[in-house]
Amino acid sequence: MRRVVCPGSFDPVTNGHLDIVSRASGLYDEVVVAVLINITKKTLFTVDERVEIWEEVTKDYGNVRVDRFHGLLVDFCAANGINTVVRGLRAVSDFEYEMQMAQMNYRLAKVETLFMSTNPLYSFLSSSMIKEIARYGGDVSGLVPEPVVSRLRTRLAEE
Ligand code: PNS
Repeated sequence: MRRVVCPGSFDPVTNGHLDIVSRASGLYDEVVVAVLINITKKTLFTVDERVEIWEEVTKDYGNVRVDRFHGLLVDFCAANGINTVVRGLRAVSDFEYEMQMAQMNYRLAKVETLFMSTNPLYSFLSSSMIKEIARYGGDVSGLVPEPVVSRLRTRLAEE
């Protein structure tokens, strides 16, 4: 079975992330979305919430499984029989960091990384920008999946 992982913080999931996962699901037998459990960084959404959102937005795909991980991505890959990571590349500014991670993951465990060019409709999107816009009352509909729009509204009203 050709299985790949799409890892990330996904705080929150954007339409750019969803586009990559959706395209990867058409290319591979199984796509595992791996949500990072980051205990050192304060996130707007808990890992349970981020997993729940992914499950909701990928429920119709059939070959997308959502999981969580902490520690090294290569260890998650080994535990799940995965040797390929799929990452979206938005712009040249992403390249340096992504290349470094890809080379390190290959050096650590021969885990390959395949880069998918982001849909130009979403190339300017980032989770941190979405949070900032939503926090100041801007409209993020069309940039993130609908469940994220409503959860952002609720969460930011609580702050
Ligand atoms: O969405 P992000 O925050 O850009 O995703 C980054 C992520 C989660 C893919 C990366 O930080 C990661 O793999 N973290 C796990 C720790 C690890 O394996 N570090 C070494 C990779 S070089």
